[in-house]
Amino acid sequence: MAKMAASTVVRGEDAFKKIFKFYKRKSPPPDFSDVTDFSKGVPSDKMVPAALDPSVVSDAEAARVGLQPVRDWRAFGLQGYPGFIFISNPFLLGSQPFWVRQCLKTYPQKPNVCNLDMHMSPSLTQDIWDKSVHGLSAPPSGRREPKTLLERLRWVTLGYHYNWDSKTYSANHYTPFPADLHLLSLQITAACGFQGFNAEAGILNYYRSDSSLGIHVDESELDHSRPLLSLSFGQSAIFLLGGIHRQDPPIAMYMHSGDVMVMSGQSRLLYHAVPRIVSAPQGHTATQLAGCSRTSSLQDSTELDTVSEEDWAVCCKYIQSSRLNVTVRQVLGPGQSLPEAPSSPQKTAAGQTAWDRDGAADRGSCYSVNTSQT
Ligand code: OGA
Ligand code: MN
Repeated sequence: MAKMAASTVVRGEDAFKKIFKFYKRKSPPPDFSDVTDFSKGVPSDKMVPAALDPSVVSDAEAARVGLQPVRDWRAFGLQGYPGFIFISNPFLLGSQPFWVRQCLKTYPQKPNVCNLDMHMSPSLTQDIWDKSVHGLSAPPSGRREPKTLLERLRWVTLGYHYNWDSKTYSANHYTPFPADLHLLSLQITAACGFQGFNAEAGILNYYRSDSSLGIHVDESELDHSRPLLSLSFGQSAIFLLGGIHRQDPPIAMYMHSGDVMVMSGQSRLLYHAVPRIVSAPQGHTATQLAGCSRTSSLQDSTELDTVSEEDWAVCCKYIQSSRLNVTVRQVLGPGQSLPEAPSSPQKTAAGQTAWDRDGAADRGSCYSVNTSQT
């Protein structure tokens, strides 16, 4: 039987769910011919060029955070999705290793919060990287080894720490947002026409090859006039972008390593999901992420510190089969403030403490279908 493309699968009720299942299916693998690939540079009927403002970010400012000059970025919009901007890997060659290392080694560190904190004591979730390096680097022994903490990492929150149960941020669950990621977010959003973006909350997702992220909309931030920024590193993903109703049929696109997505304006509150992780195209991660040895253009102009050979070897091992996603959000608009939450541990509806909960509940019951969690 000929393969059926997603476009022929469904219309009408619960189209999003059906298309999600279509792309999530393992066997037989689905037909990917309807998936938009911005990296191919072949304009499809849905892709429209997105206007950026190269004058607001100097080449030096862009290079400081590892980005190409804005005039060289390949940015696209999608017909029918005003405010949605897709920038096909704007990173300078050799700068992605820095961001990958930050996601794996730096951002999981305290005082940031991660899924492992939900059921482990703080002393055990201290130094996730150091505790994982040996297990990750060792050649397979043939025996079934326990997973390292890094392999069990599913999410990290930054800044205002998202509460998965109440789906809210609180004034008193805040730790300083990483300055480097703040600056990167500021430059990208400025080039997209949003001045003075204030990165206040971040959610990092760590996807294994069999992970997925369920249909949701990010509406917990108080100011929806500010864009939501999403960055991808490592293996690729199928990203589904739907409409303002949960059932609206989504459009499918690839997110490859280095790709950046901005959801703003009328696209800020659209339903979306990640049904599947797919291998990066041949040579894609190899060339984009190649080694820690920096090009000379990077060396002088960037403040990103060099990733050691040793750290990079561990990062490479990890992203060989995993994908990292960073979403950055401005929570508050001018004059807005968040309520205080009762001090942790949070009581859930079931009367458990938040860190009593296990496994698949890691990302909140409605929000996530991340599989094979721990
Ligand atoms: C999120 C999200 C999408 C992705 O974290 O809210 O939608 O590409 N992530 O992983
Ligand atoms: Mn989201």
